[in-house]
Amino acid sequence: MVATATVPVTSTSAGSQTRLQSEASVVDIHCTRVAFAVNGTRQELEIDNRTTLLDALREHLHLTGTKKGCDHGQCGACTVIVDGRRINSCLTLAVMHDGDEVTTIEGLGQPGNLHQMQAAFVKHDGFQCGYCTPGQICSAVVVLEEIKANIPSHVTEDLTEQAEITTAEIRERMSGNICRCGAYSNIVDAITEVAGVRT
Ligand code: FES
Ligand code: FES
Repeated sequence: MVATATVPVTSTSAGSQTRLQSEASVVDIHCTRVAFAVNGTRQELEIDNRTTLLDALREHLHLTGTKKGCDHGQCGACTVIVDGRRINSCLTLAVMHDGDEVTTIEGLGQPGNLHQMQAAFVKHDGFQCGYCTPGQICSAVVVLEEIKANIPSHVTEDLTEQAEITTAEIRERMSGNICRCGAYSNIVDAITEVAGVRT
């Protein structure tokens, strides 16, 4: 549904009129009603079409676990899971996700009931400041699913065989998630433990 709104505006011209319009339709604000599930709860928003999924989560739904780093697809801090796939929520509009299932870090686990990937990051010191961590964890959960599903990466050597969980695969697949604190080796240790493999 598209709605329009008007804003009041004033203007001056040659001393004749100090107020040309008390209310004029100088700005159309286009909004759309969108409904999606976030962490299992249906959410319905009447939202400016330009709102990113990241801003919808943080500013409208107050789920601030998902972080805004670069806001243009360079750092991975905003990674969430949509219908089982990891995406940069800063690069997609909320209105594109009508009917989708969105999982954020809050939906993976909570204090006292952590997802095994969250627990592994704690155990292995997979963070320092923690700013990148929600995105790292959402990404890591899906990375293991991608490997299980035999989706190849840039470093997969044999495309005719089942992809393996190796350090090289994990590093390559996590390369879109930047950690300014440089916790990379501990992050790999955490993911490796959850994968249940020795590399
Ligand atoms: S905030 Fe989305 S990729 Fe950096
Ligand atoms: S833990 Fe600080 S940016 Fe990754």
